[in-house]
Amino acid sequence: MCGIVGYSGNREAYPVIINGLKRLEYRGYDSAGICIVDGETKIYKQEGKVADLEKHIGDSPVNGTIGIGHTRWATHGEPNNTNAHPHMSMNGKFTIIHNGIIENYVHLKSRLERRGYEFISETDTEILVNLIEYIYLKGNISAEIAVRLALTKVIGAYGIVVICKDEPDMLIAARKGSPLVIGVGDNEYFIASDATPIIEYTNSVIFLNDNDVAIIHKNELTLKTVMNEALKPNIQTLDLDIEEIEKNGFDHFMLKEIFEQPRSIRDTFRGRISTNLKNIHLGGLFQVLPRLIKAKRIILIGCGTSWHAALVGEYLIEEFARIPVEVEYASEFRYRNPIIFKDDIVIAISQSGETADTLAAIRLAREAGALVLGICNVVGSSIPRETDAGVYTHAGPEIGVASTKAFSTQVTVLTLMAMLLGRKREVITQERYEQLISEMIAVPDKIEKILESNGKVQSIAQMFIDSTNFLYLGRGYFFPVALEGALKLKEISYIHAEGYPAAEMKHGPIALIDEKMPVVVIAPQDSSYDKVVSNVQEVKARKGVIISIVTEGDTVIRDMSDYSIEIPKASEIVESLLAVIPLQLLAYHIALMRGCNVDQPRNLAKSVTVE
Ligand code: G6P
Repeated sequence: MCGIVGYSGNREAYPVIINGLKRLEYRGYDSAGICIVDGETKIYKQEGKVADLEKHIGDSPVNGTIGIGHTRWATHGEPNNTNAHPHMSMNGKFTIIHNGIIENYVHLKSRLERRGYEFISETDTEILVNLIEYIYLKGNISAEIAVRLALTKVIGAYGIVVICKDEPDMLIAARKGSPLVIGVGDNEYFIASDATPIIEYTNSVIFLNDNDVAIIHKNELTLKTVMNEALKPNIQTLDLDIEEIEKNGFDHFMLKEIFEQPRSIRDTFRGRISTNLKNIHLGGLFQVLPRLIKAKRIILIGCGTSWHAALVGEYLIEEFARIPVEVEYASEFRYRNPIIFKDDIVIAISQSGETADTLAAIRLAREAGALVLGICNVVGSSIPRETDAGVYTHAGPEIGVASTKAFSTQVTVLTLMAMLLGRKREVITQERYEQLISEMIAVPDKIEKILESNGKVQSIAQMFIDSTNFLYLGRGYFFPVALEGALKLKEISYIHAEGYPAAEMKHGPIALIDEKMPVVVIAPQDSSYDKVVSNVQEVKARKGVIISIVTEGDTVIRDMSDYSIEIPKASEIVESLLAVIPLQLLAYHIALMRGCNVDQPRNLAKSVTVE
């Protein structure tokens, strides 16, 4: 979490940095700050959002062609002006912005205190910048050497950019654990936590690897390791369009991203389904397919919404490929000494490709000898680089903190994988395979149709703006959808919501049901429809308020419901992709009507790079 931006070139740094911070605000918005170098080092910082920082700066002078900026998700120390980045060292020699956590900061702090250092903030970052200064002054060495030496003493994760007062033409960036991208322009360089602040200036980028250090000096870039080994920059061309990171007329990124799903799902299967609709080709898995086909066990890992997609994946792969699947929270998996066999296949699912727990779980699985695959959205992020093979979701940039199109494209990839494995393992016939492919192809149009009910969902949302609890129920594929619907609501509207397998309601949650409890029942006409009808009756008997998601033309559950939203008829294999759409819209409208910031809900960050 935390977003960092740096610029060195011929244009004014301030607008580049402020706009960059706005693009990175999804990574944290507890405070923001900048440092611009123009003869002297000017630092401005402010608790709150980037807009608050802009207000705070007002007409103050911010000219200069070198600068850095930071938007913070607080870890050490509460969100306030003092803890905001950039941090300057005690003697004013160094200024730093940092994303990550210095784990041995207590030890480093006491060593520095013994040498007379005093600290004004509660952050681990202030320790690092003073450690750099201490090494610099004591050793009488260059700023670059001081930074590299200090980093060898640090345990933890960092993406940093450092400015030295004595060498004001230079930016030093380094990464370990937290992402950093360098944009290579025409005699100018951009540094950022991801490519979104860079793409409007250049699509030539370098993704730094762990232990890389980039020195940008008078618009010349040198790349080396922390241990001073020279590196050759690997400049890649990014296929990212500025329009993809704008709101394009929508009030919020979240709404835009909900409406983008027909397109993002099409992008996800484009080129992966043969034009005659007879086969699926997942290029990223080509080399490992023989191993996948013979897999004895697949372990799916992820966090948050990606974990919910993994649950759908479990149902799909077990049903269509008949391979046993386990689904694990990455954080639990990595800490509970799991049994991992050499012939296991671990698939990490992540939108950002940077989630710290998922990355750590990947490393654990690789050490144990398993084949590790990734399903990721952000191209060039850490997870695709640390896995043996994988599939990109092609959702395009997701900016809203609450995940929407990331979920549906992850489920799309998992559906394609399940179908492909099902056919290759001859669990399903070619005829059934082709039928399922046609079902997949039809999904985007069906979602378009569901999106037409946005107005209806909005009017239903109006009825629940004062609710304090919600229950979401679903069976089979719709149980993970219930979890996801509940997560969306609690994330952005701060209403307590729980997802449950419909049949489990009897074992506890039913005690909560009264006339004030809205119960969202996901009840398309699938194989467990009749059972869900009984569950709805049980809720009704206790006067619960029922909002149902039903198949077009359904009358039974619709007539029992207080409100219902229809989705087109589809095969069970793709219905989770349809049923989740009205739940995303419901959460969005309720949150909006409650006056919540839907794109940047409190306390959350999109990319969780801390453990
Ligand atoms: C955070 C985000 C969620 C996301 C989760 C996992 O909690 O707010 O939207 O589902 O991290 O992130 P990942 O990038 O690994 O999918």
